[in-house]
Amino acid sequence: MRAALYAPGLGYYAAGATKLGERGDFVTAPEMSSFFGAALADIFAPMNAKSTLELGAGSGKLARDFLGASPSTGKYNILDISADLRERQQAILACHVVNWLDALPEKIAGLVLANEVLDAVPCEIVRFSNEHYEQARVCAANGIFEWSWQPLLTGPLLHAAKHRIPPIEGYTSEINLEAEALVATLAERLTDGVLCFIDYGFPRREYYVTDRSSGTLACHYQHRVHFDPLMLVGLQDITSHVDFTAMAEAAVDGGASVIGYTTQAQFLLRAGLLQRFESTAFVNEGDRVRALGAIQKLLSPTEMGELFKVLIVGKGSAIDALAHLADIDQSYRL
Ligand SMILES: C[S@@+](CC[C@H](N)C(=O)[O-])C[C@H]1O[C@@H](n2cnc3c(N)ncnc32)[C@H](O)[C@@H]1O
Repeated sequence: MRAALYAPGLGYYAAGATKLGERGDFVTAPEMSSFFGAALADIFAPMNAKSTLELGAGSGKLARDFLGASPSTGKYNILDISADLRERQQAILACHVVNWLDALPEKIAGLVLANEVLDAVPCEIVRFSNEHYEQARVCAANGIFEWSWQPLLTGPLLHAAKHRIPPIEGYTSEINLEAEALVATLAERLTDGVLCFIDYGFPRREYYVTDRSSGTLACHYQHRVHFDPLMLVGLQDITSHVDFTAMAEAAVDGGASVIGYTTQAQFLLRAGLLQRFESTAFVNEGDRVRALGAIQKLLSPTEMGELFKVLIVGKGSAIDALAHLADIDQSYRL
């Protein structure tokens, strides 16, 4: 997954395909509606963050909308693993003051945003077979990619598998230790501030249910979804759903506290998305209807509203500044 997505010059995120938006392979919330980035600016405004760090900024659209809605915001930094997307971000954000970082800062204060980043972090696939756990590997034989399964005998992946993957013959799913390590590192480096992760996924007890016996790994190519990552290698996105319990545990291991966990719909409604929409003067009725259609997708339980979740963790004074989120908190589900 790492090579297919990030190998320099060849991986999906490292090479020149359009990726995001209608002409690409998938559409994310910021691509769908400018109200998304504005809602994030609104909900985190009480923090008065002196600095915002966006991880994996894609086309730069979220940054543009966030800065447009909150022009007096402090510094805006972006860290993106993709050099190709960084160039596009620099073009779209040419009128804004934004810094691009090459590595995570040793100390982080303020707000960290990551929309649909954790799902793009390379995961492992594990299955239970013949009374033991095994890990999926990919090998190339005669120029063709093939699966090969390797017994898991020891190590953190086996430990996680024993606690998460049901011991049902053939049950296959993902474990993303790298995403957990990223969240733990962010939490460790956070001195005073908030980390906000928005992504599709579930709490652990809903993730590894008996019925979801072939996992969540999916590929996106030209707005079609399929489940064979060995096809179109380097030309398609590969993702897995996020185990939000694992991410919350990683953040707590890094010394942060969970401020809130909720659905995207609850979060955006609490952020005043509908009020912003109602107070917007549209140029014509067509624009208003298109904007409403996008909002419907962001909020609807059958589209992104329930599948997408928001996890907010923090340290220090930022926790009190976001006390108003308590009424939408569903962290008991984690
Ligand atoms: C699915 S895209 C989402 C883009 C954008 N946030 C949006 O919502 O439109 C995933 C983004 O995360 C970036 N990415 C993946 N792993 C990353 C990491 N470890 N650090 C920073 N960026 C990362 C990719 O290059 C890409 O920009």
